[in-house]
Amino acid sequence: MYKDLKDKVVVITGAASGIGAAIVDRLAKEKCKIVINYFKEKKVAEEMVKIIKNKKGDAIAVYGDVGNEKDIKNLMAEGIKAFGEVDIWINNAGHETPYPTHEMPLEAWESVINTNLTGVFLGAREALRHFIETNKKGNIINISSVHEVIPWPRFAHYAASKGGVKLLTQTIAMEYAEKGIRINSIAPGAIDTPINADKFADPEQRDSVEGLIPMGYIGSAHEVANVAAWLASSEASYVTGTSIMVDGGMTLYPSFKDNG
Ligand code: BGC
Repeated sequence: MYKDLKDKVVVITGAASGIGAAIVDRLAKEKCKIVINYFKEKKVAEEMVKIIKNKKGDAIAVYGDVGNEKDIKNLMAEGIKAFGEVDIWINNAGHETPYPTHEMPLEAWESVINTNLTGVFLGAREALRHFIETNKKGNIINISSVHEVIPWPRFAHYAASKGGVKLLTQTIAMEYAEKGIRINSIAPGAIDTPINADKFADPEQRDSVEGLIPMGYIGSAHEVANVAAWLASSEASYVTGTSIMVDGGMTLYPSFKDNG
């Protein structure tokens, strides 16, 4: 538990499933007030709010497509309306659909870039504007991926978006560091979430992915949420512009494991 997180207001995008939902769960335990952004999962998001309120926490659910400027502005406005201010903004929403690059429709490219990269820009910009206006040493966390460094055939749009998130994070971290605003990324590896459900349900594909992980297992969303809570807390007060791999060692060139 991080005592300073109590009563902090947190906006989390794509918060109704997977890693986003695990971060909601963890930050609700830390007694944060949470703005749960959802896109398709209205019922789930509303149910999450109920569960948090039943445990004497506070949360609201707000619809929004993170790639849409108006929706992002509305997300911030709803957060401020409900809780007076926003302290922490977590850009988590993301999606992926595989295509060999020569067959990738422009719509698929644009859709992934719009959510995974433009959405992070819009969210970060909105948070920065609020932090500057209110003179707040706010905190931004971007959920990236190991594919900010590992190339990924058939996912050119996804890898490009996450590579973009890496330099976007570093650039704005540098730009706003003197204001005490911290901006970091978390780069999860293979995590058991709905985005991967079909792939990991197939034992062959699961085995093949596990073979890429030195720790030998697919991570849980809670293992990512734990890092988000730490980054959000003042225990990470001197950490900015970094990307923390939460990947069981996937980015350590695992094919070298028995070589040498
Ligand atoms: C993707 C997963 C993939 C993992 C490791 C993540 O960013 O969302 O689908 O399994 O990277 O390749």
